[in-house]
Amino acid sequence: METRIALVTGASSGIGEATAERLAQAGYTVYGTSRRGAQGGQRTFEMLPLDVTSEESVEAAVSEVLRLHGRIDLLVNNAGFGVAPAAAEESSIDQARAIFDTNFFGIVRMTRAVVPHMRRHGSGRIINIGSVLGFLPMPYMALYSATKHAVAGYSESLDHELRTKGIRVSVIEPAYVKTAFDANFMAPDAPLDEYREVRSAVDKRVKEVVENADGPEVVAETVLRAASAARPKLRYTAGGLAGRLQLLRRFAPAGLVDAGVRKDLRLAT
Ligand SMILES: NC(=O)c1ccc[n+]([C@@H]2O[C@H](COP(=O)([O-])OP(=O)(O)OC[C@H]3O[C@@H](n4cnc5c(N)ncnc54)[C@H](OP(=O)(O)O)[C@@H]3O)[C@@H](O)[C@H]2O)c1
Repeated sequence: METRIALVTGASSGIGEATAERLAQAGYTVYGTSRRGAQGGQRTFEMLPLDVTSEESVEAAVSEVLRLHGRIDLLVNNAGFGVAPAAAEESSIDQARAIFDTNFFGIVRMTRAVVPHMRRHGSGRIINIGSVLGFLPMPYMALYSATKHAVAGYSESLDHELRTKGIRVSVIEPAYVKTAFDANFMAPDAPLDEYREVRSAVDKRVKEVVENADGPEVVAETVLRAASAARPKLRYTAGGLAGRLQLLRRFAPAGLVDAGVRKDLRLAT
């Protein structure tokens, strides 16, 4: 049987790297990406340069995989970043645009580049890395939550459109994962004294939780499960906490969920 070809964006660290490794171990031929291209060190997958905010860069990376193999069977849209915990009004419009440009429009660019080839082959899988904040927004993470809601909405629409062409789309929704994610947070660019205390309290709480969170392998395993499923689900949580939050969101009364979010972050009620 021919080996399947996977392209994983943002595979230089964290969830993307763990996913690229897991897929390679499972027999896929994997191309990971980084804005810095291939770095030194041994990897079980190839690395390509890619900045998902640039259409030219997206075209170049996709063309390179197609030149080498003639097809892409699995696209994992993982590249993304967060803004450090801050009030919504502490980020400028430029900052809002920047986070959408990577977390959401990056996925749109990759999808537009890859889908025509998958359509021609009559098959393909697209797996988007969302977040529990894509169904349960968190205060002081408004922009990031908004990007992940956009990812969830886009993924669901796309799956409806493409299933009759042999292409399925899933979104993987982890809670906190222990990666360099918080080290790569973009600082809010319009900070206000008004929020200084709550900003540092939420930041401290997030750091505490990330310290005890699942490793990225948990998400990688879920990606492999979704990619291998004969009938993939639209949404997969990854890890125990994400599963519990999804149940809470689905079945608990809204008031209880609202109070639970504030209690967890130690916010005044
Ligand atoms: N960690 C968590 O708690 C958590 C929870 C839920 C969801 N997620 C999601 O999981 C994904 C991966 O996050 P992570 O935790 O693994 O963080 P990470 O270790 O910081 O990895 C982020 C990856 O994205 C790449 N990237 C960033 N901007 C890019 C751009 N413009 N073009 C191409 N690649 C870009 C980075 O590559 P280079 O810098 O090398 O280009 C890096 O490989 C993100 O979508 C994040 O929202 C994370």
